[in-house]
Amino acid sequence: MLYAGIDIGTSSVKGILVDINGNIVAKKNIQISLQTPKPGWMEQDPGEWWSATVKVIKMLVAEINEPIFSLAVSGQMHSIVVLDSSGEILRPAILWCDQRTSKQCQELTLKYGGEKEVIKALGNPILTGFTAPKILWLKENEPEVFQKVCTFMLPKDYIIFKLTKKITTEPSDASGTSIYSPITGEYDVKMMDILNIDEKTLPPIIDSGEVVGKVTAPELPELSETFVVQGGADNAAAAYGCGVENPGDSMVSVGTSGTVVTVLEKPIMDFEHGVHLFNHVRKGVFYHMAVILSATNSLNWFLDRFAIDKPFSEIERIAASKKTGANGVIFLPYLNGERTPHRDPYARGVFFGISSFNDTGDLLRSVYEGVAYALRDGYESIIKLGDRINSIKIVGGGSKSNIWSQIISDNFGVIMQRLSVDEGAAYGVARLAAESSGIDTSSWIKVTKSIKPISSNMKHYNKMIKLYRKLYISLKERFQELDEMNKGG
Ligand code: XUL
Repeated sequence: MLYAGIDIGTSSVKGILVDINGNIVAKKNIQISLQTPKPGWMEQDPGEWWSATVKVIKMLVAEINEPIFSLAVSGQMHSIVVLDSSGEILRPAILWCDQRTSKQCQELTLKYGGEKEVIKALGNPILTGFTAPKILWLKENEPEVFQKVCTFMLPKDYIIFKLTKKITTEPSDASGTSIYSPITGEYDVKMMDILNIDEKTLPPIIDSGEVVGKVTAPELPELSETFVVQGGADNAAAAYGCGVENPGDSMVSVGTSGTVVTVLEKPIMDFEHGVHLFNHVRKGVFYHMAVILSATNSLNWFLDRFAIDKPFSEIERIAASKKTGANGVIFLPYLNGERTPHRDPYARGVFFGISSFNDTGDLLRSVYEGVAYALRDGYESIIKLGDRINSIKIVGGGSKSNIWSQIISDNFGVIMQRLSVDEGAAYGVARLAAESSGIDTSSWIKVTKSIKPISSNMKHYNKMIKLYRKLYISLKERFQELDEMNKGG
């Protein structure tokens, strides 16, 4: 018996097939395009997600002789899909990384009674990436589209709709909309009133892991006996995929963006730094999440722009050959602004402290370290909320680097655990798919390596981080000035 996990990401649709013991039997990936119609706008065609999903599933099926018992879907959070009364897409999806809604965020926050009230009710401030301000933007800027909207959906729920013809969502993804409260587990009447939308336009909420129905899509007759299971928001699913599911479990994900997640039993809100509070895919549990916007994105940008075309092992060797502290160079990885803890769309990347003594190897090392400092800021914002941390799993592309994982461990002062399988959100929803057939998947998660902090490095980083933090404080207003200058103000 096989189970499938499908993840609707921003750069690709990924599918994996897993056996009853959690072994990966097949995996496929299809890249998808991203449109930026204006600076700061990010859109995608949900039709492209669907055709990529169909292709990925067909490629997976071509590799096996066994039936797929069930499949579950995860996806990018917050992005909005708008459908008309016949279930057709009305316009491109506006994505989680789109920055067009600053004005709408302010407007909604004000109408709600201020940020404190918003956080008390919804667990989070209203941020530009989130869904509610996108609805208001549509209403204000594309009234002709808005009038025709019959259903507002999230990406993975749209794919589940295409697979089954059923409209649903679940708590982990609804949590990032600002129209749902992870605390009450319901849509928020006050926010629906402010947006002037009816609950009928929002998908009914079922549990993650609940069976939605069988595949009825005409494009996939080969799956007509396969059950479709509600999945989860990509971050919650990724946490579940590495066994981060009980209070005290924690994860650092070093992907394009970086996240620090901790699981908690009670909803604790952050009124200061914007640590997110969302429902997990496991019923009744919550998680805190700090998000940094450029993790491996910083390294890829650096290697690309400084034309360093070397194999990964050589990059690792150079970074490891440099001293802790990168010979005095500090990198601020705010290439696309920052979410936690600064919540600052104007922040930008900085190399600080360069002298004629430094070489590109120092800069490379400083990129690794700067990302680790930013993740540490996120981690410490979570710790300030009183979260208990039992163990930390390190996952994502950047965690394949031994030196980067060591630097992160030295900064957090905590052991980082690596796993036998690191397939992110797709693996988390494959677990949900398997559990829907009554299987216990806890044995799927196997720690293969532990990276321990080195005390002399910790001492050094404890000093460096103080200067790193002062740099942002002294540059905060300069970043805004720069933005105005760039706008020609
Ligand atoms: C989380 C967030 C991103 C998207 C990426 O709040 O905005 O991590 O979920 O897919």
